[in-house]
Amino acid sequence: MGEYIAYETIIANRSVMRQHSFTNPINKPYRKDYSIIGCSIGFAIARRMAQEGANVMVSSRKSENVEKAVHQLQSEGLDVRGVKCHVGDPKQRTNLITETVKTFGQLDILVLNAAVNPHVGEMLEISEQQWDKIFDVNVKSSFFLLKDAVPHLERNGGSITFITSVSAYVPYELIGAYSVSKAAQIGMVKSLVVACSKKNIRVNAVAAGLIKTSFSKVMWNNKSVAESYLNSIPSGRFGLPEEIATVTAFLASDEASYILGETIVVGGGITSRF
Ligand SMILES: NC(=O)c1ccc[n+]([C@@H]2O[C@H](COP(=O)([O-])OP(=O)(O)OC[C@H]3O[C@@H](n4cnc5c(N)ncnc54)[C@H](OP(=O)(O)O)[C@@H]3O)[C@@H](O)[C@H]2O)c1
Repeated sequence: MGEYIAYETIIANRSVMRQHSFTNPINKPYRKDYSIIGCSIGFAIARRMAQEGANVMVSSRKSENVEKAVHQLQSEGLDVRGVKCHVGDPKQRTNLITETVKTFGQLDILVLNAAVNPHVGEMLEISEQQWDKIFDVNVKSSFFLLKDAVPHLERNGGSITFITSVSAYVPYELIGAYSVSKAAQIGMVKSLVVACSKKNIRVNAVAAGLIKTSFSKVMWNNKSVAESYLNSIPSGRFGLPEEIATVTAFLASDEASYILGETIVVGGGITSRF
């Protein structure tokens, strides 16, 4: 729980990392740039990418969250900047890309981490407005940010990583529409792999298991509810944002140069693909 609190109180967001020389988790030099979107998990990814030597641009809808993340990561000596961006707004998406390229000179890696889930409950009870919001942010906006980034990513050979969920494979009853949106992201990865590969861009996804962040609070803040979820996780615990960050950094690195169109499950053993 202590470890979790650190991530709940630090809201980080979307970022776009630029080209730099850095090392992967096993200290082999490689060159790439990153883009990260998201909060707790996004923050961990931003930190990990920056620790690997990348220049990182973080972003989210709220300036104060962006500033908090930038302040924290800069205080750790990391090269991280931030831009406010609501991914549903085409002008703000363009501004995010423009600012990143202006700041760092290029953009090589994009991590699509921003997501929302305004409906927790029976899937048949979701409103059209809630459905639209889920699909607008998680699916449509991710695609159009990606589309805007491609002309930059293709310059040096780039990488795109979606942060999706094990719920794409095994939908959770209370988050049905969100689970469909996460399955759509995996479909998007598969649909894009040929087009992106032609532009020398690798597109992949990380399917996170149950990670203890504010996003998943409904699954762990009540003891008996948490226990029922824990019973479905062979590792017997919720995951940490850093455990998603490690694999995301690997996928974005040249160490993963032959991995295209894949979704890597990081789920503590949840049997997600039966
Ligand atoms: N936690 C889990 O158990 C879990 C499991 C599987 C997959 N995931 C996935 O992991 C990713 C990160 O989740 P998390 O647990 O770290 O949740 P989180 O803390 O709520 O992160 C979501 C982030 O997205 C940003 N965001 C939301 N809407 C946005 C928009 N329209 N434009 C720009 N930014 C927006 C939020 O920042 P602002 O509020 O400041 O905009 C926040 O930083 C999500 O894609 C989620 O689906 C999480």
